[in-house]
Amino acid sequence: MTTASNTDITVPLLDLKAQYDTIRDEIEPVVREVIESQWFIGGPKLAELEADISTYCSCTHAVGCASGSDAILLPLQGLGIGHGDLVVCPSYTFFSTAGSIHRLGATPVFCDVDPASYNMSCETLQRAFDRPDADRIKAIIPVHLFGQCCDMDGILEFAAARNIPVIEDAAQAIGAEDLHGRRAGSMGIAGCFSFFPSKNLGGFGDAGIVTTHDEALGNRLAKLRNHGMDPKYFHGEIGLNSRLDALQAAVLTVKLRHLDSWTEGRQKNAAFYDAAIRDAGGASSLVGLEVASDLPLRFPEPANAGARHIYNQYIVRVPAKDRDLVRTRLSEMNVGSEIYYPLPLHLQKCFDFCGGSKGDHPAAEAAAHESIAIPIYPDLTETQRSHVIQSLITIVREL
Ligand SMILES: Cc1ncc(COP(=O)(O)O)c(C=O)c1O
Repeated sequence: MTTASNTDITVPLLDLKAQYDTIRDEIEPVVREVIESQWFIGGPKLAELEADISTYCSCTHAVGCASGSDAILLPLQGLGIGHGDLVVCPSYTFFSTAGSIHRLGATPVFCDVDPASYNMSCETLQRAFDRPDADRIKAIIPVHLFGQCCDMDGILEFAAARNIPVIEDAAQAIGAEDLHGRRAGSMGIAGCFSFFPSKNLGGFGDAGIVTTHDEALGNRLAKLRNHGMDPKYFHGEIGLNSRLDALQAAVLTVKLRHLDSWTEGRQKNAAFYDAAIRDAGGASSLVGLEVASDLPLRFPEPANAGARHIYNQYIVRVPAKDRDLVRTRLSEMNVGSEIYYPLPLHLQKCFDFCGGSKGDHPAAEAAAHESIAIPIYPDLTETQRSHVIQSLITIVREL
């Protein structure tokens, strides 16, 4: 095993070039094909990707769009959500879950997350409905954060009892499954995916897709993403320009064929890290850092043994007071890291009008102060992943 002092090894948080080197021979011909065809918008490449994604995500329809953010906005609009409506989403997520709600004139209602999985749970959701105007809540957006599904049984049952649609933000979770083997994006009325380059299935630029089983909704979204136009130059409603172009579709279709083996690589790296942290005296995220252990380091506890976690990110936790130092030392050892996310949404300045304050969502706030993402990408060599985890353990031991 490589020692932590070996700083000749460099491990960025993500190395897309390493991935591209393995698929260049498949990508270049399809890119050339699109260029030769000069069919850049819509067409057969988009239709092929939409068919492949709907199959992969166990849905009957998939509608490509310009980004993951638009993939959230489009079904909200398609369901008629707008001014005066409230939509529940977790406070600990990427900004655009809530940003897309607000872009339609609706208001986000933030809920806390489960402290071990970082996901919305039925309990955290229930508390969000404890408000006098809960009857204005018109949708619920659970986020399958970091690549593992929320516990959807409770969320779906809770929503069904109130006749409220569930839109899954599966931007980070393509191919993830819940404990019943249901794919992310196939459980609610719609699933929202991002193909931002850093996602497990990433494009060569921005792109996104919405999945659904609902044919009428799928057809409506296909119009909304193209200015609400149907037929050509006739607009029954106002949509937006949110198309997924043919070059992205061609690249993503090729990459999709590799996704399962990439996921397996991420899972192996995660298992390696889990074991190393446990062997060094750390514990899983089920054990809060306030509980003493030999090593104040926590690895992410998978929410359900039978579920499929696709590890878009591998999140460790260290005491908040030490986090900056840990990241500085990691960087000195040439190990990339990132904080997802340093400030929960209920405390963001732009959402002041929602009335959130410190202490409202303690699990989200603690995660924001203690979490660090470390490299998990499938192209990590054994030497690199040993260097990552041994560096981290050595740093935390010396705190
Ligand atoms: C949870 C989550 N939701 C939504 C998005 C938005 O996706 P995009 O960046 O493609 O607009 C992202 C992307 O980072 C995300 O991680």
